[in-house]
This record gives sequence, C-alpha cells and structure tokens, in this order.
Amino acid sequence: EKGTYPHYMLKEIDEQPLAIRKIIQQYRAEDGKLTIDPAIIDAVKAADRLYIIAAGTSYHAGLLGKQFIESLAKIPVEVHVASEFSYNMPLLSEKPLFIFITQSGETADSRAVLVQVKELGYPAITITNVPGSTLSREADYTLLLHAGPEIAVASTKAYTAQMAVLSILAEVTGRSKGYDSSFDLVHELGIIANAMEVVFEQKEELETIAREYLSTTRNAFFIGRGIDYYVGLEGALKLKEISYIQAEGFAGGELKHGTIALIEDGTPIIALATQESVNLSIRGNVKEVVARGANPCIISMKGLEMDGDRFIVPAVHELLTPLISVLPLQLISYYAALHRDCDVDKPRNLAKSVTVE
Ligand code: F6R
Repeated sequence: EKGTYPHYMLKEIDEQPLAIRKIIQQYRAEDGKLTIDPAIIDAVKAADRLYIIAAGTSYHAGLLGKQFIESLAKIPVEVHVASEFSYNMPLLSEKPLFIFITQSGETADSRAVLVQVKELGYPAITITNVPGSTLSREADYTLLLHAGPEIAVASTKAYTAQMAVLSILAEVTGRSKGYDSSFDLVHELGIIANAMEVVFEQKEELETIAREYLSTTRNAFFIGRGIDYYVGLEGALKLKEISYIQAEGFAGGELKHGTIALIEDGTPIIALATQESVNLSIRGNVKEVVARGANPCIISMKGLEMDGDRFIVPAVHELLTPLISVLPLQLISYYAALHRDCDVDKPRNLAKSVTVE
C-alpha cells in the first residue's frame, strides 16, 4: 500500500534504509557476524570464475557485485546482459558458477540463460526479491533480498538491496577464504542506512536540481569513473524510464572519444565524484565538457567535495558508495518526471516484469 505517499516509487526510495537494516538482520548470525548458507559459500569457492547474469537495473547491480567480489573474495567475475548471453555465449571457464540477479525472479531473458546453463550441468544461485519465483525455484540456491514488494516499475530499493546482498556474499566468501577480516561490513552497512536518511533530509534540494537541470532538456549525460561510472549507468536508466529524457551514462575518460560531440550549450552533465583515486581526473573530464558549454551538476562525497559541487552525500566506505550515491540520482529522476508530468509509477511501454524474451 502507498499510504500517504503520492507514488510507489517515492515510498520505495524511502524504504531503502529499512531494507538495508532488514538485510543485516537476516544475514547476521548469533555471533554478530554476517553469514550465508555454507553450501552456497562452498559452491562459490569451488568455482574458478563467476558469471553474473541479469537485465536492466539488476545488471547494473551486477557490475558493482563484480567489484565487491573481486576485491573482497578475489574470484574473477564476468557480468553479462542476459539477452546477449543466451544468443552469444562466451567461452566459459572450467568451473563456472552462475549468479542470476533478478528482482522479480521472472525475467524471461535471465531464465533462458538459467535453462541453458542447467542443461550444461553448471551450478546456479539466484539473488531475488521474490521467494518461490521461477528463477529461485530453478536454481540450486537462492539468496533473498528482503526488500519487501517493489511495485513501481522503476526499480529502486531492489537495486540497493541487490548490492547489499552481493557485498555480503563477497565478504563472507572472502572471510571464509581467510582474507583480511578487518572490514566490518555490518558496521559499514549500518553507516549506509543512516547516511541514506541524511540524503532524504535534502529532498527539496534534489527537487530544485531536477527543476533547474532537467525540466526542459532533451538529453542528459551521467559521467563517472570506476564505481561511479556504473552508478551513472543506473542514473541514466532511471531518468530515461520515467521522464523520457534521452540519457546516457559514460565513463568520464571515454566521453572525449566521440560522445563529447553531443555536448551543446546547457547540456546537463551529472558527474559523480565519490572515489578518492579518480577525484581529480573526473573533475578534469567535467572541465572538458564545461568548455563546450555543458551545465555541470557534480555530486560528490563528504571529504572529497570541492567548491561548486551541487550535492554532497555523507561519507561511507569507498567500496559501498553506490548504495548512497544512487539515491540523489533516483530522486532527481523522480522529480524530473513529476516536473514533466510523466506517470512515475507506470511509465509508457514498460511492465514490471518482462516475461518475454
Ligand atoms: C529498471 C527496471 C528494469 C529491470 C529489468 C530486470 O528500473 O525495472 O530494467 O531491472 O527488467 O528485472 P528483474 O530484476 O526483475 O529481472
């Protein structure tokens, strides 16, 4: 139920801290540490390579899952769009393990890959929000998101929940392989949940940003480097889906190899700067587009902020910044859609689960 909310999307955006806290609670053992069914951890450790398969927003969560797993569990990960994988299967490693990420658990493109890899005899885990869904039933193992039902077509809380569960899978696997256990993920996810609430206190500012940058524009670009690039892809997808603004996410350094030709006077550029290692280089990329007339909106993180940044999210662990930096992007999309009189919860041409290939 929407309760007092005007839209499910806004309600679901607001439910993200609750979902993160629920996930911590669900994946926490009596000793206070995070835990996952040992059979799943054994399956992950037995693999020489993980293949994440997903579509849309879940694919974007998968791109970040790769970062978490490679840095905390040191297992190589490939991330594939489901509809491409099933028609154009890459050369597989000797001992692959498949991880399907799907909010609904019903996406036909993802299911087609699951059917294929089961026929080949490979193990599969489904990460889903819906217990008993098709992909959950047909995989060997399931990890639940515990985000509560997601009704709005544009996925929000499932994305942050997917990243939280992927980070837990990465941390528990890494710990079980004997890697550095000084990373206190329970604590870091707790910080995320609190930081989310701080962002929500600044909704008015995000509405102003949406009005200023996006109420009349035809297009918009999201740029970032590394982790921020992947979050930009998700920001662009949200904006396209519900406001019908043509939006693209780009790696900051790649813009100049062609796409910069699209920058005109006033073109909105939303740049993310949450990573210390690329803080100066992404700002260099912003300067390149500003020199061509772009209207920059820099979203940075406390501690890395510089004069002129438009929105600053609270500081969180550098690996987990997507769980916080996506919030202003979700809200900017939401307000842009409102300003443009779009049907936020039921955008044209889209359905909540895509059950055709
Ligand atoms: C974006 C969106 C879609 C879904 C995609 C996969 O807001 O909702 O891109 O993320 O169709 O759906 P699931 O996760 O249910 O497999």
